[in-house]
Amino acid sequence: MVERTLAILKPDCVRKKLIGEVTARIEKAGFNILGMKKIRLTQESAGEFYAVHKGKPFYDGLVEFMSSGSCVVMALEKENAVADFRTLIGATDPKEAAPGTIRKLYADNKGENIVHGSDSPENGEIEINFFFSSRELFAIE
Ligand code: RTP
Ligand code: MG
Repeated sequence: MVERTLAILKPDCVRKKLIGEVTARIEKAGFNILGMKKIRLTQESAGEFYAVHKGKPFYDGLVEFMSSGSCVVMALEKENAVADFRTLIGATDPKEAAPGTIRKLYADNKGENIVHGSDSPENGEIEINFFFSSRELFAIE
């Protein structure tokens, strides 16, 4: 099934000047980029985006990190996009990520792990709508 997933290139990705390299890997893996823009999350908007993790021990640090600098958000489309994107990025902790995955290649630790991917097709739609209006999304023609 053709699905959509949200990708966020996190502040560590932007600081390390890896936007181009990570985007190239995403395109080479077959994803269509429907929308893409640079944003800056406030603490409030980062907290809202990751509200599902509220109360967990890493939540405050996650909100701090995600609002510490600019991010690039992307709406991606592909057959089986959610699972395939999570395969491409690897496990949350780069120490546990498979060789060749984006987190294994570029991430420093479990908190600062370069990229976010949606965890279900339903959340992919919700998360894309969090950042993009339908007028900002374009198919490849
Ligand atoms: P994401 O949502 O960012 O794609 O990451 P994920 O599904 O692989 O991991 P998730 O459990 O949803 O956690 C969200 C983000 O919180 C930070 N985290 N830090 N220090 C820790 O134990 C810890 N655990 C999670 C990471 O930035 C993770 O990507
Ligand atoms: Mg997650």
